[in-house]
Parts: sequence; C-alpha cells; structure tokens
Amino acid sequence: MYIRYNPTVMRTPAIVLALSVFPTISCDKPSEPTQPPATAEPTAEAPEPEAAPPEPEKPKTWADMDRKQRKRFMGLEVLPKMKSMFQEYNAETYGSFKCQTCHGNDWTDVDFKMPNDLYPLPADNPIEAAREYDAEITEFMVEKVLPTTAELLGEQYDKTTGKGEFGCHSCHLVAE
Ligand code: HEC
Ligand code: HEC
Repeated sequence: MYIRYNPTVMRTPAIVLALSVFPTISCDKPSEPTQPPATAEPTAEAPEPEAAPPEPEKPKTWADMDRKQRKRFMGLEVLPKMKSMFQEYNAETYGSFKCQTCHGNDWTDVDFKMPNDLYPLPADNPIEAAREYDAEITEFMVEKVLPTTAELLGEQYDKTTGKGEFGCHSCHLVAE
C-alpha cells in the first residue's frame, strides 16, 4: 500500500543517529540535552500556528518581487488605494489620478525609476521645507501618503523626519 507512505520513515536515520550519539555527549556536556531533539522535530510538525495557514497564496513582499509582480502590485494595491486617498483630499485636482501622477509622464522612458518627476524637496529637512511651501498638502503627505505607501510596500518610515527606508524622497526628487 503506497498510500501509507510516511515521511517519518525518511527521517528515522537522523533521529537514531541523534539518539545514539546523545548519551556519549551528555557525559561531557550535561547542559545541552535539549539540542539533538530540537533539530529533528520541526521538520515534521506544523510550526507556529499563525505563520503558515492564513495566506498561502499571498505574493512575496515588495522587496522580493520581480518587475512583473511589482507592476501588478502597483496596479492592484498602490494605485487604487492612493487614488481614493488623493481624491478624498481633493476630488477636483486629483479627478484623474494615474500611475503617472507619481511616476511622471516619461515613466516608461525612465524605466519606472523613482523618484522621477515630483516636486523637489531638500535632502536635509524635507518636511519643514514642504510646510513652508504648502502646509496643507504637507500634512496630507505626512499623515496619509507616506505611512500608507510605506505600509503597502512593507518598508520602514519616519513621520517626524520624512527620511529613512521609505520617505519623502522615495517619491520626490531631491532639491539641489
Ligand atoms: C502613489 C504613488 C505611486 C503610484 C500611483 C504608482 N507608483 Fe509605482 N512606484 C512608486 C514608488 C514610490 C516606487 C518605488 C518603490 C521603492 O521604494 O522601491 C514605485 C515603483 C514601481 C515599480 C518598480 C520599479 C523598479 O525598478 O523596481 C514599478 C514597475 C511601478 N512602480 C509601476 C507602477 C504602475 C504600473 C503604476 C500604476 C498602475 C504605479 N506604479 C503607480 C509610487 C507609485
Ligand atoms: C508615495 C509617493 C509620495 C510620498 C512618499 C510623498 N509624496 Fe508628496 N506628493 C506625491 C504626489 C503624487 C503629489 C501630487 C503631485 C501633483 O499634484 O501632481 C505630491 C505632492 C506634494 C507636495 C505639493 C507639490 C506641488 O507641486 O504643489 C508637497 C509639498 C509634498 N508632496 C510634500 C511631501 C513630503 C514632505 C513628503 C514626506 C513626508 C511627501 N510629500 C511624501 C507623492 C508622494
């Protein structure tokens, strides 16, 4: 009966080895008796309950995605979310919110490179400079746009400086 094949059989040699070696080591190192079983166990039993089951089909994180997956993710997650957020902020100005609103009109020429075309902010204090320029939209950037995009991409951000792994300059050019 091949259906009764059990993967445990495959592991037997490892366990036997661990157990047979164990008594010899334990004389010298009595403080380590937990180690051999620990290496044998996790391969078989389900690990942490929360880790695996809920989202088995979920694609990789942004950092692991290839170009094709990133395009898809931008279209399915980033664009719809940001579109509704920008339209909530100002329906008139952002009536048509597109990939190009962030990426710039020449976005295919530059091969999706970001930042590309958005309002330049100084490297040192982007938020402060932005507030001086337009306090209202800066609040929207700090409170909504920055956190939401960073979370979608699974990257770290800092609302107080606007710098870090994902910051103002992930979208905005650096002012000279
Ligand atoms: C809200 C702004 C925003 C919108 C809208 C947006 N993107 Fe992006 N996109 C970004 C940012 C920021 C990055 C860079 C992310 C990072 O730090 O890696 C990026 C990166 C990408 C990349 C990866 C580039 C690379 O070199 O890996 C692709 C591809 C892409 N976007 C395609 C799209 C497409 C297609 C759309 C429309 C469906 C779109 N984006 C809409 C902000 C945006
Ligand atoms: C995910 C991309 C993204 C991030 C991150 C982001 N912005 Fe923006 N920002 C935009 C877009 C898109 C616009 C609207 C551009 C337009 O109206 O054409 C904008 C507009 C602005 C404007 C108005 C510019 C103008 O031309 O009038 C300022 C100021 C600004 N952002 C500041 C900031 C600051 C400060 C941060 C960091 C806290 C930040 N932004 C982070 C995408 C981003």
